[in-house]
Amino acid sequence: MKWSEFFTSSIGKKLVMSLSGICLIGFLVVHVGLNLTIFNDLPIFDPEDNGRMFNKAAHFMGSTVVIRLMEIGLFVFFFLHIIQGYLLTVQNRAKRKIGYSIPVKDGRASWYSKSMGLLGTLLLIFLILHIAHFWVPSRVTQDLTPVKYGDMEAHNLFERMVAVFQNPWIVLVYILGCISLGWHLLHGFQSAFRTLGLSNHRYIDSLKATGTGFSILVPFLFALMPIAMYLGWIG
Ligand code: HEM
Repeated sequence: MKWSEFFTSSIGKKLVMSLSGICLIGFLVVHVGLNLTIFNDLPIFDPEDNGRMFNKAAHFMGSTVVIRLMEIGLFVFFFLHIIQGYLLTVQNRAKRKIGYSIPVKDGRASWYSKSMGLLGTLLLIFLILHIAHFWVPSRVTQDLTPVKYGDMEAHNLFERMVAVFQNPWIVLVYILGCISLGWHLLHGFQSAFRTLGLSNHRYIDSLKATGTGFSILVPFLFALMPIAMYLGWIG
């Protein structure tokens, strides 16, 4: 079998989904970890922080060559994951020829796996908006207020986040985006590892528990960020 045939076969598409999904899970861990530094502004930590810790961390990420190169890889993984996801959804629907009208308990596929296309689309809308809110002003138009920390001059991304999250509709879209992410991960997390064959019966329970914990905790922490800024807990 040629490489081109492998990547367009069902198993090839699933493998691309699985590997790109695992890389995106890794990205989420770094992203949520870095963003959690905004909570250093809470009165119980350092009310004078004003986003200093977050801005410094974001500056480090934006000015380190290796990380900028990884960012290109990240966009490639997103692209592959989205394209292959759509191809798999279309292919599976064509096989069933009955779309989503079949009752949920048909024993062949859970609602999660059937809803991956829909939830993935919601996530895609969220992502486009999200990139326009932060990544474009930070990396492309560079129209963020500069802020000085000693010798370092960084972009005041924190200030932009606070400004963006004053709009309740945007906060709502972010919360919905995080719920879609959680739902998407509830199926996607374990599915990605199963495709790689990492789920023999001895590990399946821990894989399920880790997947469920991750799918709830990470989106919850993300959702807390716009909420905290909208309610004025930070910023
Ligand atoms: C809901 C809370 C979130 C907040 C407050 C937030 C904040 C940010 C900020 C400030 C940036 C710009 C970073 C920079 O330019 O240095 C960014 C970039 C990005 N975010 Fe988020 N984010 C959130 C959730 C998410 C989620 C759930 C995803 C994915 C499903 C995501 C995907 C991305 C991507 C792909 C980038 C651009 C790549 C990069 O800068 O490394 N974000 N986010």
